[in-house]
Amino acid sequence: MVATFKNYRDLSAFAANKIIRLVKHKKNAVLCLAAGDTPALTYHLVVETAKREAISFSEIIFTGLDEWVGIGPDIPGSCYHFLQQKIFGPLGIKKTQIHFFNSMATDLQQECNRINTIIQTVRGIDLALVGIGLNGHVGFNEPGIDPAGSAHVVTLDEVTSIVGQKYFKTNTALSKGITLGMAQIMQAREVLLLAAGTKKAAIIRRTLKEDISNAVPAGFITTHPNGWILLDEEAAAEL
Ligand code: F6R
Repeated sequence: MVATFKNYRDLSAFAANKIIRLVKHKKNAVLCLAAGDTPALTYHLVVETAKREAISFSEIIFTGLDEWVGIGPDIPGSCYHFLQQKIFGPLGIKKTQIHFFNSMATDLQQECNRINTIIQTVRGIDLALVGIGLNGHVGFNEPGIDPAGSAHVVTLDEVTSIVGQKYFKTNTALSKGITLGMAQIMQAREVLLLAAGTKKAAIIRRTLKEDISNAVPAGFITTHPNGWILLDEEAAAEL
């Protein structure tokens, strides 16, 4: 389903409401959340509502979506640091509730296996909230990805390495990522893909108008039975 909202705030309120409703309904829901600019307001609204309505997240499980290889959790710009600042910290989420990629691990393949096992153990993801890269990536599932893949290490697309600089104060070498695979995202019981702003308009056009293929990984989400493409008017401008 594609839903277009008047502005970024309305889009974020819709996504936040979906998370809140799930958490109220399923105390031990499994959430998989993207970092990045787009979901920032969604997380702010989730925290605000959870505090106002005293909604408990104490049994919620969080699985990592992706991380920059070699960028530790304490470094501003890492996906973990972002989520810690925006949602884990403000909601008082315990470390035991969070299953995130350790992108500093010496054996990254083992790290992928560990996360694959955790996702099986928790019986899958209830809700995955993802963004979309300017190249159509989801998590770090870059163009050309195997749609059947599970967690893996990826050589980042040039676009991702360049655009990713926006998260860091100083120039940071970003060459590899570690990410859940497209199949794991597609197996989530519900997927929300958020896109906001004029800069996302061209890739949203490609996502929704081109034949679905791994050239634009975000396109796969349009085939998810419970997949939502949530846009603001600017991101929908080329449709
Ligand atoms: C980050 C992630 C990425 C971003 C995407 C859009 O955890 O998974 O795929 O969602 O690059 O980033 P923003 O929202 O900053 O435009």
